[in-house]
Amino acid sequence: MTETQRVTSARPVGPASHPDLAGRVAIVTGGSRGIGAATAAALAANGAAVAVVGRDVPALLAATAAITGRGGRASWVRADCTAPAELAVMAETVGRQFGPPDILAAFAGGNGMPVPTEAETPEHWREVVDTDLNSVFYTVRAVLPAMPAGGAIVTMSSAAARQPARSAAAYAAAKAGVIALTRHLAAELAPRGVRVNCLAPSATENDKMRAWLTADQRAELGASFPLGRIAQPADVAAAALFLASDAAAWITGATLDVAGGKIMV
Ligand SMILES: NC(=O)c1ccc[n+]([C@@H]2O[C@H](COP(=O)([O-])OP(=O)(O)OC[C@H]3O[C@@H](n4cnc5c(N)ncnc54)[C@H](OP(=O)(O)O)[C@@H]3O)[C@@H](O)[C@H]2O)c1
Repeated sequence: MTETQRVTSARPVGPASHPDLAGRVAIVTGGSRGIGAATAAALAANGAAVAVVGRDVPALLAATAAITGRGGRASWVRADCTAPAELAVMAETVGRQFGPPDILAAFAGGNGMPVPTEAETPEHWREVVDTDLNSVFYTVRAVLPAMPAGGAIVTMSSAAARQPARSAAAYAAAKAGVIALTRHLAAELAPRGVRVNCLAPSATENDKMRAWLTADQRAELGASFPLGRIAQPADVAAAALFLASDAAAWITGATLDVAGGKIMV
């Protein structure tokens, strides 16, 4: 394969287009930056009303302004997704602003920095599991009561849960737990017409990665992927929109690897 062919095969994702999302109400946790912000923007560009959830108010304001500045419908709610009481207030606030939520993208998380297991502390382990697994349960628990039939939940795992990677064991275990939680919820909620699916991205460029890796290092990392580049948040957002939309009406309990061909489970 020539370099030109390689670059062509790895061209960036185009804007996701799902007309059935127009008029739906979506909640995106982790919507203040990165993958969540890209997903919130893509949902709004398809006509959904989007509640953007996170902890960092300036980042929430910026993510929401990016949507409303383009004529989209969005509002932000500050909530820590490891705090069930804050999520209860969030769900009530969104219900008042936009009505019952049709879509939940439970993407808040992170905290995957590698830690040798011998050096891991119980406190850090609990913090990671709280951030990356318990938060998903807490969020679903808060949002589900008002979600109508036809609703769609998209959860966030990681390539770290699909095969051993350079991340903390706690992160891999928490993200594997998200896959199990997703399957359980999918079976439990199918009779009421709610679908639940999961995304498992690999290296996706975000603020933290830009702080840790130079552009050359990111390009080097990208070259290790069969498709020849790392992901951009829009790549993962496009997969999220597919799972949230009627295009995935017959899909529930699935985990979609968004990994440039590196993970094939
Ligand atoms: N980037 C990757 O390579 C990659 C790969 C696989 C999976 N993922 C997963 O994808 C998700 C998004 O990652 P990203 O790359 O977009 O990371 P990011 O740019 O660091 O964004 C993380 C988001 O999660 C929110 N968040 C974290 N903890 C929270 C909490 N306790 N309560 C509320 N919000 C919280 C942050 O909000 P605030 O800053 O406003 O608190 C932020 O919006 C995470 O679950 C991550 O584990 C990422």
